[in-house]
Amino acid sequence: MTRVQESSDPRVEPKRPVHPLAAPPESWDYATSIEDASLANLRDRYDLWIDGEWVKPAKKLWFESINPSTEQTLSEVAHAGPTDVDKAVRAARRALPGWRDMPASHRARILFAVSRLLQERSRELAVLETLDNGKPIRESRDVDVVLAAQHFFYYAGWTDKLDHVLPAGRKAEPIGVCGQVIPWNFPLLMAAWKLAPALAGGNTCVLKPAETTSLTALRLAEILEEAGVPPGVVNIVTGAGETGAALVNHPDVDKIAFTGSTDVGKLIQKSLAGTGKRLTLELGGKAAHLIFDDAPLDQAVEGIIQGIYFNQGQVCCAGSRLLVQESVERQLIDLLLARMQNIRVGNPLDKNTDLGAINSEEQLAKIESYLEIGEHEGATRRGPQCELPASGYWCAPTLFTGVTPTMRIATEEIFGPVLSVLTFRTPDEAIEKANNSLYGLSAGIWSDKGSKVFRMIEKLRAGVVWANTYNKFDASSPFGGYKESGFGREGGWHGLFPYLK
Ligand code: NAI
Ligand code: MG
Repeated sequence: MTRVQESSDPRVEPKRPVHPLAAPPESWDYATSIEDASLANLRDRYDLWIDGEWVKPAKKLWFESINPSTEQTLSEVAHAGPTDVDKAVRAARRALPGWRDMPASHRARILFAVSRLLQERSRELAVLETLDNGKPIRESRDVDVVLAAQHFFYYAGWTDKLDHVLPAGRKAEPIGVCGQVIPWNFPLLMAAWKLAPALAGGNTCVLKPAETTSLTALRLAEILEEAGVPPGVVNIVTGAGETGAALVNHPDVDKIAFTGSTDVGKLIQKSLAGTGKRLTLELGGKAAHLIFDDAPLDQAVEGIIQGIYFNQGQVCCAGSRLLVQESVERQLIDLLLARMQNIRVGNPLDKNTDLGAINSEEQLAKIESYLEIGEHEGATRRGPQCELPASGYWCAPTLFTGVTPTMRIATEEIFGPVLSVLTFRTPDEAIEKANNSLYGLSAGIWSDKGSKVFRMIEKLRAGVVWANTYNKFDASSPFGGYKESGFGREGGWHGLFPYLK
């Protein structure tokens, strides 16, 4: 297929992703506006991926995975029970010595191959992710798949150098069998975040995708096999919370890595207490996004939009608490409301779509309950009147003004396209309000003054702080939180520590 540089529709951008790894494969078609759903190559039904084979679940139960933008069934996914989880953990245990003791350069070569295959199949993966998750194809294409490939590339590079960066005489030793439970907001990317550093360190894995978004992880199984990952090194068990709990509580798992809600994170931490299993948790957030009066407001507006409406706001590090310096509040809100008129909500397969579908009926109900709570608490709900599709799960981009720090919409994670706007007068007040949260995952600052930015960064209790940008990610950069946002880091050199003894 030929790649078209110019489009007759000016809204279809012919420009390409920024990362050098993300040179557009020839298969991308930039000419048409609506991406072709058939590229996802879906099977009617998926079994479990255990020991390098597709295995039927012991109880012969499957559940539906639906497209949240249409409510149509995409495929059936196996429901793994404790027997299946046990089978997967045993396979990972058996595969451990072979993978751990393989020459590191050989392991590296396999992980580089995974990265390359992710790139080569990026269009198929992006379409599949968008169908299963509801996120705009522009994001799955330019962010999720690109970063997933980048993570494998980055950690492949570490694989044969680990011994050289440890103190003399120390050898990098894997933890062992890792149980990894991931959420539905970035399904393929979270699988890559978890698997790439674990595999680079010589561990073997059992991965449990979220129940609403298992399909890209199952496709990744094929890619891992094709790249030469030996049987049993990565096993994929699908199912809901009980499947995750069976994995977490399996006695022969050495380490658990979890990304998801703070409630489930706390539960896992309790159940692991005293077992000697290692644990890392990446949980919720309620990030403060600070706008100072000396900031370039037009640019800040773009950052705010990216901060809260990226992935429909279903992002743990979303800039969901906007703190604006009082003197520019009115001006900024006017700019923001005007900009929100241009957000295109709708078919996630349309390359011009900015805001796709909410991932599930359950999540939509949660977001809608917060919209009611906000109004009930006395905040003012604002945003464009959007025509939303008749079927599927949709929420228009929304912001609340007149929010006070104790309101639930200012303190609790909504995980949707809903921004709460608060104000401050002085930098000290900004810090105090920003840190007044149970969470501490991320924060953002917009200011023209570098000295102010650095002073603020020192005082913000957040694992990641963006300055004059927001929601930018890179495999070389550590990510993780303070307080109830969890512990342990993913990404970068730091992301390897939890996978090494
Ligand atoms: P969840 O925490 O229930 O689900 C995350 C993953 O954990 C899924 O794979 C799920 O099957 C698994 N899981 C559920 N219960 C488990 C248990 N007892 N033991 C082991 N694994 C278990 O999150 P959910 O219910 O999908 O979303 C609820 C809220 O959590 C969202 O509204 C959002 O506020 C927050 N959330 C935060 C995420 C983040 O990236 N920090 C990701 C997903 C949700
Ligand atoms: Mg849940």
